[in-house]
Amino acid sequence: MTCLLQKAKVLLAFKSYIIYQVSYIIYQVSYIIYQLRTMDNQNNKLATILSRYPKEESSLIMVLQDIQEEYRYLPQEVLVQTAEALGIAQAKIFGVATFFKAFSLKRRGEKVIQVCTGTACHVRGSRLILEKFERETGIKAGETSGDLKYTLEGVNCVGACALGPVVVVNEEMQGNFTMQKTGKVLGKSRSKDDE
Ligand code: FES
Repeated sequence: MTCLLQKAKVLLAFKSYIIYQVSYIIYQVSYIIYQLRTMDNQNNKLATILSRYPKEESSLIMVLQDIQEEYRYLPQEVLVQTAEALGIAQAKIFGVATFFKAFSLKRRGEKVIQVCTGTACHVRGSRLILEKFERETGIKAGETSGDLKYTLEGVNCVGACALGPVVVVNEEMQGNFTMQKTGKVLGKSRSKDDE
């Protein structure tokens, strides 16, 4: 009887092991399919961008601008493919991508919110506005939210000091910004602090 019980236990453990292995294989296959689809999608997007310009070094900035617009950042693997397509060294592409502030190598949110923290905006309360955005989004300046909805940044003078405090949302400048406007930027009718 004890022997039968032991055999049953071993069989049960073996069954669980097989189920675990099969689930793991299914997960791996699904992941590979997902990766292949993503790569294919990326290749198509890049091919479309590259088709707009001559395949030469002088097209680099325009191609990078289009990649940034398409992905909202410059994915590393796309830059490597771009280097090959334009016949440029990868080091050069990464050099250009990191030199210009308009380009980002980090994934960014759907809404990029930049609060000017330059002197003129600072004295008009931009720090409080930035802190309010931090509270409302749950992220700190320099971070992107986990759901990729928001990227929040504190930036240096954006050149419109007379309109301070200035907030730039997806490259659209909003002058004379007030604390009450944060909710609207975030797509909320009211923000927590306004209640
Ligand atoms: S300090 Fe904010 S625009 Fe100049």
